[in-house]
Amino acid sequence: MSERRNFVRLLGGGIVVAAGATAFATWWLNDEVPAAALEAWQGPRGERDPRRRAIAYAVTAPTAYNAQPWVVDLREPDAIVLFCDRGRLHLESDPFGRQALIGHGAFIELLVMALAQHGLRAVVQLWPQGEPGRDPRHWHDLPVARLRLSDGGAPDPLFAHVLRRRTPRQRFDTGRAVSSEVLQGLDAAVPAHGVVQSGGTVDPARVRPLRRLCMAAARLEISTPGTGLENLRQQRIGPREILAHRDGLAVNEPALRLAAALGQLDRSTPAPEDSGWFRQMLGMHEEQAATAMGFVWLSTRGNSRTEQIEAGRAFVRQQLHATGLGLGMQPMSQPLEEFAEMAPHRAAAHDMLLGGPLPACDARRAGAGATLQMICRVGYPMAPVPPAPRRPLQSFVRA
Ligand SMILES: Cc1cc2nc3c(=O)[nH]c(=O)nc-3n(C[C@H](O)[C@H](O)[C@H](O)COP(=O)(O)O)c2cc1C
Repeated sequence: MSERRNFVRLLGGGIVVAAGATAFATWWLNDEVPAAALEAWQGPRGERDPRRRAIAYAVTAPTAYNAQPWVVDLREPDAIVLFCDRGRLHLESDPFGRQALIGHGAFIELLVMALAQHGLRAVVQLWPQGEPGRDPRHWHDLPVARLRLSDGGAPDPLFAHVLRRRTPRQRFDTGRAVSSEVLQGLDAAVPAHGVVQSGGTVDPARVRPLRRLCMAAARLEISTPGTGLENLRQQRIGPREILAHRDGLAVNEPALRLAAALGQLDRSTPAPEDSGWFRQMLGMHEEQAATAMGFVWLSTRGNSRTEQIEAGRAFVRQQLHATGLGLGMQPMSQPLEEFAEMAPHRAAAHDMLLGGPLPACDARRAGAGATLQMICRVGYPMAPVPPAPRRPLQSFVRA
C-alpha cells in the first residue's frame, strides 16, 4: 500500500516537473518580438488625413535610446506643429537635450519627405516661439517646429528606404572594407546648405584610435552611476516588456530574459562592474567598436538648437543613404555626451575629428565653437538587422 502511495506521489511530482519543464520550454522558445510593437514598419494603415499618413512614416525616425520624444498637434488645418515630449528626455546622458533635438531633426526630415511623397510641400519654421533654454528641466511646452502645408513637394529618392532603415547593433564583417567612394556618398547625402559639415575615415590609422575612444567612452557611460542606471532603465527585456513599452532598447537574449524573469537583474541600482549584466553590456559595446570598419561624423559651427535639429536632418539622410547601399551605420554617441565625467573623451573626440579644442558643452549660440553632433561606425552587418519597436501612432498625436 505504502509502495503504491509512494509511486503515486512520485508520479504526481513527475507531472509537476514535466508541466514546469513544458512551461519553461514554451517561455524560452517564445522570444518573438510581438508584431504589434513593430507595426510602424508596415507604414500607414488606412490613415485618411495625409498629415497622419506622413506622421506614420516620421515616427520611424531614429532617437537616442529609442525615446521617440515627439508630440504633434494637428488642430490647425494644413499645418503640423511639433513639440518635445519632455517626459522622455534622458537628463543623465543628454543633460542639455542636444541628442533629443537631433531626434526631432530626424523626425522633421522624414515628415517632410513623406509629405512630399503625397504631393504636399512643407515650409518648416523652427522654434516659432523662440529657442528653448539651456536646461531641459526648465523647458516650457514650446513648439519645436511648425510645418505649413500646401500643394507641391518634390519626392525624395531617399524616401524609398524609410521603412527599411535600421540601426545595426551587431558586429560588422571585418573581412569587408568600406570604400572611400561609399564615404563620399554619405558626405553627399548631407544637405549642402552649409549648416552641417560631415567627415569620415576608413583609414586604419585613424579608425583604430576611434575604436578605442568609443570603447573607453562606452565603459565610462555604463560604469558612471547616473548614466549607467539610465542606460539600464532603457532596456526592455523579453517580449512582454517590449510590447508593454514599445520604446527603449529591445533585448531578447535568452540568458538576460532568464535573469530578468528570475529577478536577478536589479534595475533600481547601477549594475556592479562584476555583474553579468555589466559584462554583457561592455562586451557588446566593445564588439561594436572593434568591428567598426570606418567612422563618419557630423559637426556644426556652433551648438545652437537650430544646428542640433539640422544635424538630425542630415544624420537620418545619411542613414537612409547607407540603407540603400546595404551599409550599416550605428551612432556611437558616448564620447559626445555632456555629463561631467565624459569631458576628457569629448575633448579627445573634438581634437581627433575637428582638430580643435572642446567647445563649452552647454553653449547654445552659434559662435560657441565647432561642435561634434554625431559619430557613427560604419560597416557591413553579417545578418539582417531587426527593426526597433515604435509606439502606436495615436500616442504621438495631441488631441
Ligand atoms: C542622437 C542619437 C544618438 C544615438 N546614439 C546611439 C548610440 O550611442 N548607440 C546606439 O546603438 N544607437 C544610438 N542611436 C540610435 C538609436 O538607438 C536608434 O535610433 C533607436 O534605438 C531606434 O532604432 P532604429 O534606428 O533601428 O529605428 C542614436 C540615435 C540618435 C538620434
